[in-house]
This record gives sequence, structure tokens and C-alpha cells, in this order.
Amino acid sequence: MEARKSLPSWQALEQHADTMKNTHMKDLFAQDPERFEKLSIKLPKILFDYSKNIVEPQTMDMLFSLANDCHIDQWRAKMFAGEHINTTEDRAVLHVALRDQLDQPKLLDGVDINQQISATQQQMDAFCQRVRSGQWKGYSGKTITDIVSIGVGGSNLGPQMVTEALNPYSDGHFNMHYVSNVDGTQIANVLKQLNPETVLFIVSSKTFTTTETMTNAHTAMQWLTDAAQDTSIIAKHFVAVSANKTNAIKFGIEEQNIFNMWDWVGGRFSLWSAIGLPIALDIGFDKFKELLDGANEIDQHFLDAPLTENVPVIMALLSVWNTTFLGAQSQAILPYDQSLHMLSAYLQQAEMESNGKSVNWQGEKVDYPTVPSIWGELGINGQHAFYQYLHQSNNIVPADFIGSVESVTPVEGHHETLMANFFAQTQALMQGVTEQEVRADLKMRGRDDSYIDKVAPHKVHVGNRPTNTILMKRISPRSIGNLIAMYEHKIFVQGIILQICSFDQWGVELGKTLANKIQQELASGEVNPKHDSSTQGLLSHYHAMIEQ
Ligand code: F6P
Repeated sequence: MEARKSLPSWQALEQHADTMKNTHMKDLFAQDPERFEKLSIKLPKILFDYSKNIVEPQTMDMLFSLANDCHIDQWRAKMFAGEHINTTEDRAVLHVALRDQLDQPKLLDGVDINQQISATQQQMDAFCQRVRSGQWKGYSGKTITDIVSIGVGGSNLGPQMVTEALNPYSDGHFNMHYVSNVDGTQIANVLKQLNPETVLFIVSSKTFTTTETMTNAHTAMQWLTDAAQDTSIIAKHFVAVSANKTNAIKFGIEEQNIFNMWDWVGGRFSLWSAIGLPIALDIGFDKFKELLDGANEIDQHFLDAPLTENVPVIMALLSVWNTTFLGAQSQAILPYDQSLHMLSAYLQQAEMESNGKSVNWQGEKVDYPTVPSIWGELGINGQHAFYQYLHQSNNIVPADFIGSVESVTPVEGHHETLMANFFAQTQALMQGVTEQEVRADLKMRGRDDSYIDKVAPHKVHVGNRPTNTILMKRISPRSIGNLIAMYEHKIFVQGIILQICSFDQWGVELGKTLANKIQQELASGEVNPKHDSSTQGLLSHYHAMIEQ
């Protein structure tokens, strides 16, 4: 396998980065009035502006050469064809099949997965209709008022993020609750709001072995059967989504209440499968389908658009440019739409669990930075919290700004204030303000020289901080589908360029294994003397504090 660093396109970018590190975007804008036109892409419902990056058209050409050298087109074809590109787990990666709505068979390892997908979608549709129409009753004959989704990681973040994002599209049939934390506080708080006669629990776990989810599901089942004084009523209040039917049945879920998923759907890419059942219950199956259609529109764009106009490809190339070549260590996700308040948490798992790795496909240590840490918050709240750091710290944090032209829930006078901030922030991050400008401004305001000398250095903004702007027409099932799929494919392309196995997550296993052992010690009150002294000390102290 050709090492990335030996590619001429990689080496050219390394050299080019040295020049670009000393280039200010403000000058690039001044030199080229067409910069926005050249470095932005208009999709039917989304504008992607990447002109506020430290790139010139030549940089983009070099990045596209890298993409070509990394055979993005071939890898993309392999993914869509169902080749086992998840090599360490020997699995296909086919979340795209969940939204391609094709009538013809799609064979994966000899099995028609389109038939499986449509059977599960029909099951979801019928179930949603029964529950939403009130035909599905709880054990005492009442209709369902509350849905509790129990799951963690990919079995929680996607459904919860989208439920929140599409809240204006919910017809309010149900109070929606999500439980992910094994800290009993969360489930206790949810359970005390519920009437056992009118609640439906969805246990979402691809593996049906995840400790947090199993513990919460057991607590919920106990609570329900204690209230009803009857275990035969479970079928009216518990359904499961899982690729492990055997475990779900063992747990006590009726077979007809199990919605299937498959090992070719990765947890963090699974909201398009039956893992999205809470979304479908909340907004109705037809609108859930629109979400799938939105994702499929981007799948088609990703497949068909040339690399130079391909939004996910460009997003990935810019991430590699900013991180691997220019040295940024983190990236902020800054939505300006209240409904996207969970987007950064969602993308954190999607990108960091996928590409937060340091060996290549061959298992060799890579000698370049891979992905940045992903963090963020609603932009407008961030402005009053951490934007100080974005504007003036020594660390450069590239950021994605995401906003909408129209509010789904307009309130007189709010949207323009919101969006004025949205546009102003990327402008400020790009252009900054020089000491000379600061001094002139203070002088104009009548400040004396000693005040100006003292304050001016603190008011300088160096600028030149890269941002992407993603401007949507409005939040809708379709546009949310668009948005998420753009990031999914970005992550895929990033992984190919960096030669990272994007679809496994071995890094979460060690902690789980150790936690299982330590849990036994917590139960027995013993401390294994083989632990390091810190862990021994902490556990002994924990036991001692229980006794106090
Ligand atoms: O955190 C590890 C992980 O395996 C994620 O990849 C996954 O989304 C989550 O746990 C939940 O897994 P499951 O759906 O099997 O309960």
C-alpha cells in the first residue's frame, strides 16, 4: 500500500502549506472579487460556502489531486456496492441502502437486502400507524401518551438529535423521552413523569449487550411490571430495535415487537434504520421517509458530482487541509438554529468514533495528525461563552456555521437578529481587526493616547480563522436528511484520505472490559492488588467512603 506521505500530491501540499500559513484570507478576498463564486457550491436547498478558508484555487486543485491519488471514486463505488470495506470487522457499510428506495433487489453476500429493508420499513409504518392512531393500547386499554427510547451512542444520539431538530414537524401525539445514561438519576427523572398504563418503551441496541442500555431497560421493565402486577403485559409496552434478536427475546421482548437491523449498518450511521423508530413515531412515517429522501439526494450528489463540485468531498479535503497540513487540532460545529442544538454532540460521535484513530488500514502507526476533536454548541450561546477563544486565542479552531434562511417557528424580530450574528461572526473570524484599525477607532471615539496604548493590543483580532458556512432554506425532514448525509460522506472521504478504518470502534472496548472487572470489585468490596496505585487508592477510598 502506498504511504500517503510518499504521494507527490501530499508532498506538494506540505510545501504549499508553508506558504499558505503566511497568507491572510483578507488579502485573498481583496485580490479576487470572484472568490465567493469560485469557492462556494449551490445545491437545490443548501448553499455551501468554503471561501473563508486559507486556500486559493491552486490549493483546491492540489487537494483534488490528492483525492484522485487516493482513489476516492473507487472507494465510493466499493461502499455503494456493498464490498466489505469495514475490514477489521469484515462487514459491508451500507447505511446508504436504507435510503435509496429502490424497488429492484440489492444482493449483499447473496441476500436481497432491499427486501429486508422494505419489510422492516413496512413493519415500522404499520406500527407507527397503530400507535399514533390510538389503536395500540396499553395494558389497561388506554392509548399511548409517552415514548421512552432507551439506547446509547449511535442508538441514542441520531434519533434524539433528529427528534429535537424536527420538533416543529411533530404533531405532538407523544411526549418523547430519551434515556442513555446509566446514572439512575436520568431514568428516575423520566419514570416519575410517566403513567405505566400509557407508556411505550423502545429498547434500541444493535448488539443488545450494551451495559448502560440493558441496565436501563431492566429498570424500566421492573418499574412497569411492579406497577401492573403482571408480567404478561410487557408486549403492550416494550418493543426493541436490534440486530441481535436472540438477546432481545431472552430479555423478554415479544418476537413480533422486534424491529430488525443488520451488521452492515454502523451504530453511528443507523438513524436511517429502525433505530429511527422514535423519530417516525413522533413525526409520522411519511415524514420519516422524507428524511430518508433528503439523505438520498446527497447520496446521489456524492455519487454523481465531479470531485470539484462535490460538497462532502470538499468538506473532507478542507478538514484534512486544516488539520493535517495546517495543524488545527479541533473543529467547532456551530449551528444557529435552536432545533440543531444536539448537532455537535451527534457529529462528535460520528467523526471522532469513526476517524479518531492512529493506525492505517495495514495496522501501521500513521505519522500525521488524523482528525480534529469535534466540539460545539449553539452558535449564539457560544458567542457569550467560548467565542472569545475562537477570536483571540493562540489556537486556530476551524468552524462550521450552520443556519437557515427561514425560521420554522418565526417570532417577530428574532430571526434577523440571529442571522445578523451568524453572518457577522464568520466575517469577523476571517478579517479580524489590526492594531492600526483599533487605534484609529479609539482615537475617533475621543480616547486619550495612554488609554489607547493600554487597551489597543487587547482589542486586536488577528483573524484568518477558517470557517465553512452551510446555509439551508429551512429546517425540514428533507434538509436534515441532506445535512446529516453530507457529514456522513465527509467522514467517509476523510477516512480514505487518512487511510483510517472508519467503521470500527475498537477504542471503546478497553474501558468497557476494565469497567466490568471493577464492577465486580465494587460489588464485593475488594480491591485487586494488581491495579496501579492510583486505581487501588481510588477504589479503597470509594469503599471507605461508603462506610462513613
Ligand atoms: O460506544 C460504542 C458503541 O458500540 C457505539 O459505536 C454504538 O453506537 C453504541 O456503543 C451503542 O451500541 P449498541 O447499539 O450495540 O447498544
